[in-house]
Amino acid sequence: MKKNFMAAVLFAALALSGFNAGAEELALPKPDTSSALMKIIDARQSGRAYSDQKISEQELSNILWAAFGANSHGKRTIPTGRNQQDLKVFVIYDNAVWLYDGKNNLLNKYSETDLMPYLDSQDFVKPAPVHLIYAGGKKYAEAHSGSAYENVYLYAAENGLSTVIRGLIDRDGLHKALNLNEDEVVTYHQPIGYPAQ
Ligand SMILES: Cc1cc2nc3c(=O)[nH]c(=O)nc-3n(C[C@H](O)[C@H](O)[C@H](O)COP(=O)(O)O)c2cc1C
Repeated sequence: MKKNFMAAVLFAALALSGFNAGAEELALPKPDTSSALMKIIDARQSGRAYSDQKISEQELSNILWAAFGANSHGKRTIPTGRNQQDLKVFVIYDNAVWLYDGKNNLLNKYSETDLMPYLDSQDFVKPAPVHLIYAGGKKYAEAHSGSAYENVYLYAAENGLSTVIRGLIDRDGLHKALNLNEDEVVTYHQPIGYPAQ
């Protein structure tokens, strides 16, 4: 009898404290998506129809800064493993391939090779006026690319541009065409443009 009483007291105490040992779900409060950042995250989406309308140098600069630019506190707009900052962002723009130098905010002409045959497994990519190709050291290239392409997606969502990240590319062909070394890998391709009407 005494035992039953103690058990009942314990149960009541636990119930009053809100403790529920068997709970396997935690219902969360509704996300507060009212801020500008949360609205852009909500708007982000992949787009697969581009017009050939040119992207201005100012916009290209903004896109690349979002991807892998130098921030105002001495690092990059994305986190990098061991702060190695070894992501390479190649840019096809104006009929040439450029390598982005985020520290100096410029593009270095890299080659005039037509890389489209390595990228156009899906026809919709062809009209896009800007193509980013991500590459870098094997260890962190995937992670760094993911951070960079998400920033570009968010920039696109905020600025009426359309983009998609693509893995359906000829990575070996690009590796050779871009003259990368054995420790480097090509990860993804990201076409960007205004949406086709
Ligand atoms: C690693 C990765 C590779 C992808 N590769 C391709 C691709 O080659 N072609 C493509 O059209 N979409 C590709 N996507 C885009 C996904 O299909 C897209 O993100 C998914 O359908 C969800 O749609 P959302 O981005 O609009 O939310 C890829 C996405 C990721 C994360």
